[in-house]
Amino acid sequence: MNQHKHTELILALDCPNRTEALKLLKTMQGSLKWVKIGLQMFTAYGIPLAKEIKAMGFNIFLDLKLHDIPNTVAKAIDSLSEVSIDLLTIHAIGGSEMCQFAAKARDASNPNLKLLAVTVLTSMNQAQLEQLNIHTSVESQVQTLAKLSTQSGIDGIVASPLELAMLRSELDPSTLIVTPGIRPRGADLNEQKRVMTPEEASKLGANFIVVGRPILNSPNPSETVQSILKSLK
Ligand code: C5P
Repeated sequence: MNQHKHTELILALDCPNRTEALKLLKTMQGSLKWVKIGLQMFTAYGIPLAKEIKAMGFNIFLDLKLHDIPNTVAKAIDSLSEVSIDLLTIHAIGGSEMCQFAAKARDASNPNLKLLAVTVLTSMNQAQLEQLNIHTSVESQVQTLAKLSTQSGIDGIVASPLELAMLRSELDPSTLIVTPGIRPRGADLNEQKRVMTPEEASKLGANFIVVGRPILNSPNPSETVQSILKSLK
C-alpha cells in the first residue's frame, strides 16, 4: 500500500528558450508549485536559470540523470547546493557505491534535497538490454535497480505509468515515485506510447506526476494547470 497523501504536479519546462520559459512561469506563480528543468535547458542556461526559477517561488526538479564515478557524482551534488534544488535524478545503473556517495553528498550539502533514481530508460527495450549483455526482462531490471538504489540511500524512483503499481507494491512505502508519461483524458499523446491520466497515476501511488506538452502546447497553459491540479484533489 502506498502512504502518500497527495499527488503533486510537476511541469516539464521543455521550452525553446529562457525568455519563453520565464514568461510562461509568471502566469503560473501561486498555482503551480513544481518545475522540472531538463538537460536541454540546464545545458543552455545552467545554475543562473535554476536560481531565477527558485527565486520566483517554485520548487525545482533538476533532471540531470547523473552517472559517473561516485566521487564525481558527489562533487556535482555539492556544486548544486547553492541553488537548493528539491529533486535531482541520478542513474541507478551507476551502482550502489555511486548511490551511497550521492546520498552522503545530499546529507552533507543539501539535506532537503530528495534524490531520485532512473532505472531503465523508457526508450530502451528488451532487444537493447540484450545488446548490453543484460539477459533479463525490462521489468526485472527495473525492480533490481529500484531496490539497489533505494537500499543505497536514494529517496525515490522515476517510474513509467506501467511500472507504477509493481514498484509501489515492491518498495518501502516511504519511497517517492515520480511518474512522467501522463496525459489528461482526451489530450494528444504526442509520441508517448503508454500513458495514464493524472487521476489513475495518483490512485496507483505516484507522489508526483510530470506533465509537459499537454500544458506547454495548450491554448491556455495556466488553465490546464488548474484543471490538472483540480483532478488531483
Ligand atoms: O511532454 P511530456 O509530458 O511527454 O513530457 C514528459 C517529460 O518527462 C519530458 O521532459 C521527458 O523528458 C520526461 N520523461 C519522460 N519519460 C521518461 C522519463 C522522463 O517523458 N521515462
